[in-house]
Amino acid sequence: MTQDELKQKVAQAAMAYVQGVPVIGVGTGSTVKYFINYLAEMKSQIEGTVSSSEGTTKLLKEAGIPVLDLNDAGIIEVYVDGADEINPNKQLIKGGGAALTREKIIAAASKKFVCIADGSKRVDVLGSFPLPIEVIPMARSNVARAMEELGGRPVWRESCVTDNGNHIVDVHGLHITDPVKMEQTINNITGVVAVGIFAMRPADICLVSDGEQIITF
Ligand code: 5RP
Repeated sequence: MTQDELKQKVAQAAMAYVQGVPVIGVGTGSTVKYFINYLAEMKSQIEGTVSSSEGTTKLLKEAGIPVLDLNDAGIIEVYVDGADEINPNKQLIKGGGAALTREKIIAAASKKFVCIADGSKRVDVLGSFPLPIEVIPMARSNVARAMEELGGRPVWRESCVTDNGNHIVDVHGLHITDPVKMEQTINNITGVVAVGIFAMRPADICLVSDGEQIITF
């Protein structure tokens, strides 16, 4: 199976978790794109969705699926999103698509976070995927220096301005053995808006497509 077929397969498996759920949180990325296609098939049963990016909002609206403001939606029953890396504790690296801040907000506001990914995203230790950090633009160099002190190699994602008008620094070379501690440490650097470690609020359920099989943990 190709990676796209694996993404599609796991997106379909996520549909079992959103049956009868009135308001669904929707993440960002190529795996979620397939999920939105499946959601469109059951849109008459959905009251609304809360979107994690302008890109996802566009796709949802094009599919005729209502999009609500999180402030009006209240607590979200289920949030479905992809990941760049998943460790055995369901802790994640996210933000490859630069939507990490809104993704983190929706994850925090959700009762159940269902993470969907193809098997290539599973790792024992987070950090091979460069860690995205959303920063206030004027703080970029300062955050980069702080990340060098933590042993990383920060690279400015130059072509990228986030939906919130901020910059992304991707930090290479980290070996994140204590994701909660690293998340807290990076959160404390002045100028950081959000770091793409989802450890303090990990996924609740991970669905991973591995060939014909869906692994759930
Ligand atoms: C976007 C994300 C995505 O969930 C992550 O990058 C995975 O994307 P894809 O499904 O395209 O592999 O965190 O900010």
